[in-house]
Amino acid sequence: MKKIVVYDLPTRAFHFLFGFLFIFSFSIGKFVDDDSWLYAYHMLSGFLMAFLIVLRILWGFFGTKYARFKSFQLRPKKLVDYFSSIVSGKTKRELGHNPASSYAAIIMFIMLFLLVTTGVLMVRGVAKELFEEVHELFAFAFLLTVIFHILGVLFHQIRHQDGMISSMFNGKKDKIGPDEQSVAQAPFSFFIFLVLILGFASYLLNSFNTQNGTLYLFGKTLQLSEQDNEHDLKYYNRYYEINEDD
Ligand code: HEM
Ligand code: HEM
Repeated sequence: MKKIVVYDLPTRAFHFLFGFLFIFSFSIGKFVDDDSWLYAYHMLSGFLMAFLIVLRILWGFFGTKYARFKSFQLRPKKLVDYFSSIVSGKTKRELGHNPASSYAAIIMFIMLFLLVTTGVLMVRGVAKELFEEVHELFAFAFLLTVIFHILGVLFHQIRHQDGMISSMFNGKKDKIGPDEQSVAQAPFSFFIFLVLILGFASYLLNSFNTQNGTLYLFGKTLQLSEQDNEHDLKYYNRYYEINEDD
């Protein structure tokens, strides 16, 4: 079957960066000690993911055919039909996102928004204990969605062998009908996309003070980590010990 381009360059770039940053944030959040200098980077990566979503939402309105939200299949009936067709072993192929992956994408966007919101509330000291629990819950709900997403993609590929996995690498899937045509790769938008992402990433890194763990973002200061406060406290205590001896 002839292959055509379904996912343009910006959509694929978004997928790789978003997936990579999710793994980065989740692993640091879960496996690194929260006293470590590295811990704040799971938050910086979370802010960068939020920026990626802003760009992806814009692309969802102005991008090529299958990147547009209009092509997402979000009617609940479609999702129910899709899952019942899995049970009966009669899933249909879609050229763009199928109902399960359309929902998975939207759920992931919402999860990220909830993680950033609860994370920021925590670092601002608002109901820290409560939001710590909620943040952890959302992080695991996000992980579960990703695991189901990957299993769903594998299942689809085994069943239909239509190049779904490689579509997120080369953009191409097997045609279904005779009238379907490749979308543009959109290299210029991809270039703008990369410049904006690199710009925002360097803005984040420049606004983060590694000495005292503060992030100065859009005119607000957030205390992401306390690394050097502990260090300062040791000096403070030593100073007073010395002065008390005098
Ligand atoms: C082995 C790893 C992965 C593979 C093979 C994979 C594959 C895919 C494929 C083939 C699609 C398009 C689905 C369709 O045509 O209906 C897709 C979409 C998507 N995936 Fe993944 N994925 C992987 C990991 C991840 C991870 C780790 C995340 C998030 C943290 C993620 C988030 C998404 C999102 C948000 C979309 C929608 C993309 C968009 O429309 O912009 N994926 N993935
Ligand atoms: C900008 C956004 C974020 C901020 C400000 C933030 C902040 C925090 C804070 C303050 C903690 C608690 C540390 C402690 O135990 O005292 C935490 C834990 C955690 N965060 Fe985030 N976070 C953000 C984004 C994310 C993202 C995007 C993910 C996942 C993809 C994530 C995953 C986790 C995980 C897994 C934990 C550990 C939960 C546990 O087991 O206790 N965070 N975060």
